[in-house]
Amino acid sequence: MSADQRIRPLLLADIDEPKLATLPVYEARGGYQALRKALSMAPEQVLQELEASGLRGRGGAGFAMGKKVSFLPKGSVRKYLVCNADESEPGTFKDRELMQKSPHMLIEGIVIASYAAGIQTAFIYIRGEYVLQADILDEALAEARQARYVGQSILDSSHSLSLVVHRGAGAYICGEETGLLDSLEGKRGNPRLKPPFPANQGLYQGPTLINNVETLSTVPAIISLGGQEYAKLGTQTSKGTKVVSVSGHVQRPGNYEIELGIPSREIIYDLAGGPPDGRAVKCWFPGGSSSPVLTAQDLDIPYDFDSLAQAGSMLGSGAIIVVDESTPILDVALKVAKFYRHESCGKCTPCREGTNWTVQMLERIAAGEATPIDIDIIASVCENIIGNCLCVLGDAMAMPVGSIIAKFRDELQSSLRQAQLRLGEIGAQIIASESALAAQGAPIASGVPQPAGPYPTGEGAIHMEHSL
Ligand SMILES: Cc1cc2nc3c(=O)[nH]c(=O)nc-3n(C[C@H](O)[C@H](O)[C@H](O)COP(=O)(O)O)c2cc1C
Ligand code: SF4
Repeated sequence: MSADQRIRPLLLADIDEPKLATLPVYEARGGYQALRKALSMAPEQVLQELEASGLRGRGGAGFAMGKKVSFLPKGSVRKYLVCNADESEPGTFKDRELMQKSPHMLIEGIVIASYAAGIQTAFIYIRGEYVLQADILDEALAEARQARYVGQSILDSSHSLSLVVHRGAGAYICGEETGLLDSLEGKRGNPRLKPPFPANQGLYQGPTLINNVETLSTVPAIISLGGQEYAKLGTQTSKGTKVVSVSGHVQRPGNYEIELGIPSREIIYDLAGGPPDGRAVKCWFPGGSSSPVLTAQDLDIPYDFDSLAQAGSMLGSGAIIVVDESTPILDVALKVAKFYRHESCGKCTPCREGTNWTVQMLERIAAGEATPIDIDIIASVCENIIGNCLCVLGDAMAMPVGSIIAKFRDELQSSLRQAQLRLGEIGAQIIASESALAAQGAPIASGVPQPAGPYPTGEGAIHMEHSL
């Protein structure tokens, strides 16, 4: 399947329809028909359709959505549905467009999924920075309540659902499902130990279904088409379509809905226009900044969960970041490492310390103060982070940085060498200027310009150190 023979999009089909965010326009495009269809079926049948679709979660881990619903205990136990709208992974901006332009599609998906799972309380946890999207969701929710798509006895059925939009304060770790649950409960957003998994013990200790915005927004299309029909799209193990955010060095950055399994090259070049003329791809992150980088040699890998995993990377959140030859790979590694150091919640040592060490060692390379063995030490720090943390935020730094070292070691060594030479030149310049000053009889101390005395002592001196 090539981009030229692309399927009709499911989620982005009407996305640029003016006022699609309003109920009348959404209904005029067939909106809430899937909910009517679902409510005419038994919840078990709806669940069967979700399982038959093979839909895998679009938030990062790629776990089968229908299976997750089936893990929830049956019966009258109080259960929750939480929509993960935190969307913090760098390079990912698909959920933002879906919520901003088609909020009713998400609401419809949540109502159907909650019906299938026997859930009567749901939340949309949206990142604090998405003010516009949260406002739009609030307005759409008010319309949906008014039209009785949400609330008591939805469309006179036996299904009732309370749905609340909850605004986060803005932290990457609150996208991790258990950190999100703590934050939703009003605590600091720190990941929990798993197991127990949220399907058994989640929000307020109750069984909880957590799914990403795109995952839930796909549910109406699955019910409209039928699970088996949906499963005809994509590959054997990666069914359906995927909204891919493409950013970085491409001429047409944006969200593109593709059928899973098309060659990655077609997304980067045919859809997003590839790097500016005359520049070539150096590396690309296939699934957000936490995915191991791939190179220009990997552009023909099919864009699906398993092909990318076999290539040593991952589909993740479905966000391709392209880096062309104009950017030094050291800058890329530093940018990634600094982001995860900043976002580490600090709960476990390998992540808290390892992200910091990695940044510091990369900075030493950039400053020309490292030795070649430091590159091996960074690789070893990354290896020791992977698999040794409470959540995968530590891995999210260690995997891309580790892959950069594995694939671009020569360039890193050459960056280090150049930085050392620069440092040498600066040193030579300082020595030359000191010699010139000394020849004029001026006092000089150890190559560092000295301020005029008197120098602060005691507490004043300590205070000065702290204020540096
Ligand atoms: C550090 C970290 C950050 C995450 N951020 C997000 C996020 O912003 N949005 C999201 O949907 N999933 C995020 N996830 C994945 C969630 O933990 C969870 O797997 C997902 O919400 C499940 O939904 P899905 O099955 O529909 O993908 C993150 C995971 C980790 C470890
Ligand atoms: S891996 Fe990092 S972010 Fe995750 S719990 Fe540990 S310290 Fe916190």
